[in-house]
Amino acid sequence: MIVLKNNEFIERNKATIDMEDRGHQFGDGVYEVVRVYDGEVFLMQDHLDRLQYSLDEVEIKYDVKEQNLSSLLEQLIKKNKVHDGGIYLQITRGVAPRNHPYPKNAKPMLFAYPLELSRPLQAQANGIKTILQKDFRWLRCDIKSLNLLGNVMTKQKANNANAGEAIFYRDDNHVTEGSSTNVFIIKNGKLYTHPADNYILNGITRRYILFLAHKLNIPYKEKVFGLTELKEADEVFMTSTSAEVTPVVEVEGDKIANGQPGPISQQLLEAFFQYNH
Ligand code: PDD
Repeated sequence: MIVLKNNEFIERNKATIDMEDRGHQFGDGVYEVVRVYDGEVFLMQDHLDRLQYSLDEVEIKYDVKEQNLSSLLEQLIKKNKVHDGGIYLQITRGVAPRNHPYPKNAKPMLFAYPLELSRPLQAQANGIKTILQKDFRWLRCDIKSLNLLGNVMTKQKANNANAGEAIFYRDDNHVTEGSSTNVFIIKNGKLYTHPADNYILNGITRRYILFLAHKLNIPYKEKVFGLTELKEADEVFMTSTSAEVTPVVEVEGDKIANGQPGPISQQLLEAFFQYNH
């Protein structure tokens, strides 16, 4: 495997990370996961724009455009002959003696490499079970930060319960998002999802689904909903770069409607397939 380190392409086993990289010590960095379909990054510009947003919010001085990151990623895909899969990319603040404040002279450190990803066809056909988890993460979930311990602990809790995802809620009236996904509900033909604020990551797939809903004349609204609305929804689904659109058929032991993926979720999933092929 060939990996990208800053702007150099090197063999995977030559790619080392310094012990004092702040990504390790403080989780001081940001990341992206992009999807590759037919050898091309899906919604590349949206991912690059969000990456720049995360970098700017944490004041890591890396300019995505100046560094020609889109071209570097295209080269990485070609060098590894990625047809269908993904790319993981992270930028940390760099290497410096351990001290909390931002170091003056650290140079941002970028790593990117291919991920094996396949479409979650079975989960999409059958829908998944989910559990609920009080959202105990920080209040800047809009930054795609490397600090994923809360998400990782929560995904493990879902795994232990044989569930495909855990859905976070701040309080009974405020469902936020999944541990690595955004959550949508449908009630009386209308689509609802959490507004893009500091409580959630503004998913690229989330935005794409809102765009598709608009195209398909499905009414939608970005608004906060609670646990009752979630459980009493006609349909629930979640979205992410790797999950695409995946129906949710159970929340914490309660079936959603008749426990089968619903028609609007299916319609959006089909539209998602069509736009990519
Ligand atoms: N996760 N919310 C959270 C907390 C996420 O980690 C993700 C993505 C999303 C969906 O965002 P997008 O549609 O841009 O993938 C929402 C990535 C895929 C991950 O960490 O693997």
